[in-house]
Amino acid sequence: MVTKEQAEKRIEELRKLIRHHNYLYYVLNKPEISDAQYDKLMNELKELESKFPELITPDSPTQRVGAPPAEQFETVKHVRPMLSLDTAMEKEEIKKFDERVKRELGIDDVEYVAEPKLDGLSVELIYEHGKLVMGSTRGDGINGENVTENIKTIRAVPLVLRSEEIPVPDVLAVRGEVIMHIDDFEELNKKLIEKGEQPMANPRNGAAGSLRRLDPRETAERPLDIFFYEIMDIRGYDGINTQWKALQSLKKWGLKVNPLVRKCREIEEAIEYHEEMAEKRDRLSYEIDGIVIKVNRFDYQEKLGVKSRSPRWAIAYKFPPREEVTEIVDIVVQVGRTGTLTPVALLKPVDVKGVTVSRATLHNQDFIDQMDIRIGDTVKVARAGDVIPEVVAVLKEKRTGREKKFHIPDKCPVCGSDVVKDGAFYRCTGGLSCPAQLKRAITHFASKGAMDIEGLGGKTVDMMVDSGLIKGVSDLYFIKKEDLLKLPRFAEKSADNLLNAIEESKNRSLARFIYALGIPNVGEHVARLLAKKFGSLENLMKASREDLLSIYEIGPEIAENVVAFFREKHNLDEIEKMRQAGVRATTAVEKKEEGGPLQGKTFVFTGALQNFSRDEAKAIVEELGGRASSSVSKSTDYVVVGKNPGSKYEKAKKLEVKIITEEEFMEMVGK
Ligand code: IVH
Repeated sequence: MVTKEQAEKRIEELRKLIRHHNYLYYVLNKPEISDAQYDKLMNELKELESKFPELITPDSPTQRVGAPPAEQFETVKHVRPMLSLDTAMEKEEIKKFDERVKRELGIDDVEYVAEPKLDGLSVELIYEHGKLVMGSTRGDGINGENVTENIKTIRAVPLVLRSEEIPVPDVLAVRGEVIMHIDDFEELNKKLIEKGEQPMANPRNGAAGSLRRLDPRETAERPLDIFFYEIMDIRGYDGINTQWKALQSLKKWGLKVNPLVRKCREIEEAIEYHEEMAEKRDRLSYEIDGIVIKVNRFDYQEKLGVKSRSPRWAIAYKFPPREEVTEIVDIVVQVGRTGTLTPVALLKPVDVKGVTVSRATLHNQDFIDQMDIRIGDTVKVARAGDVIPEVVAVLKEKRTGREKKFHIPDKCPVCGSDVVKDGAFYRCTGGLSCPAQLKRAITHFASKGAMDIEGLGGKTVDMMVDSGLIKGVSDLYFIKKEDLLKLPRFAEKSADNLLNAIEESKNRSLARFIYALGIPNVGEHVARLLAKKFGSLENLMKASREDLLSIYEIGPEIAENVVAFFREKHNLDEIEKMRQAGVRATTAVEKKEEGGPLQGKTFVFTGALQNFSRDEAKAIVEELGGRASSSVSKSTDYVVVGKNPGSKYEKAKKLEVKIITEEEFMEMVGK
């Protein structure tokens, strides 16, 4: 039995240890323990605190999440106005800024600090005697919203400042930027769309929207990060007389400072820094939209003073925007494999920092309605990292009155079947009688991870369906050479090749066949589980919901989908025809799927690969018996890092998962 005194002592120790490891991880980026070891400390602390709840203090590392949802945010006044920055786009403007600074100071030697201009949400945090007591958004600069409980959920925010190296001030008000890493942003959007909720337009909105959730538990689930860059007020502590020193001190107190900050002896160095960062920008895991140049010495800053809303001692030197203005020429609807109708804006092509953008997804009808997007509108489109272009704003002042509202039609534009609403989405009810769905179903059926029919790609499938040669997937197995020869682009040899490939596909494994059927949510991995469990198609077709649910990793949604699929007469007819044509699907899984060289190994890919698409890389892994997953965990074996890796890379480092380059991966898989 632990006595209260013993518990008190150990609790103190544990809190100190945890804070120390947070500091190593977040501020120094040099963790010394694994995630598992960290969790162990946390669990021990939680356990002791649950035995002695009277020992819980609000600044305990266990108390990040827990406050009840707020009705609304309270307004709080900032200690000093949170100013914004004058901006410049051109080198000349920066030189003029430097000249003015020197003129007003009456000197010709000025040192600057250059920092990345983080594209997130500005916040103020107040620490009293080292304890976090307040966190607020910028608001209008004078008053912000009290988001303390939400700020506390951000792991990189210390609840208690470190005092190991330098003492903590009585009061410290510090400004920083809450950001969302691009990878996390993409993942979040995927989840939001799956849940039928509105996706976020860009990582900045992702950060702002997440921080401003009324329920702190929801904020806690959003992956937010923060960098600190300005001391707004400090009491009971002397000696910080430059921005550079301020940044170093923030680090010592455990407040994360961007590692790319740089002291510049003269303005030319800051201009070079701008060029360097512009080049580096695409490889960062988060968005920056420029750099901020600040006069280093505080006495100089004071002398220069502030204007109404911006300081005269700092300037933002922006990068060319990844946003451009263009026009929506039309809105079309894309029909997905399972019938989901996705509205897509066709744009007057525009160059957005080196990439020609001519389409942007509009996600769904709610998105169009909320943004009030109309055909003919002038819009701002943006590209974040390698994210699909998005419409981020409608320039309503450019409207002429000729713009047309858009609504997803009530009949499928491809097959004319009824369209039904399903959550936030509209769906064509035509099933495989809809040529658009059929084309996608066949392309999927023939794809590498499925029946692997070489030479049967999107264009060929389009031709086959459009010419009426194929009306269902099973028709593939009844194609005759003379039919193929009637299609453009087919000659003797190519027709023979395709027919051989189709013939060969009859021997694919059951796992591949199940995957090829395109049952919603049944990916390659699940298909293999099903094949191994049931051994034959007959058994799978007879399986009840309960039989399916008894498989570890299979939940109600997949179970329902499988049962529903085999209840559909059309699907049963198709399967029967394929079997008559000789599709066997007898062996559960192919040898190479079962005991491949990557058997039991899990891979995660992050960043842009140079030699494969993500899907290709995943297919290679699976082919060799490994598993590709989209998120890093302790059970991940390898994280393959491409260009511009995101937070998965950071996570891999934290979890001490083996990180390999694309080249090492290629070597491993013999490519
Ligand atoms: S200093 C008085 N430093 O940019 C100085 N701001 O356009 C005020 N920002 O609202 C800010 N990174 O949200 C500063 N390293 C940085 C910054 C930064 C991003 C944001 C900040 C501010 C906006 C000004």
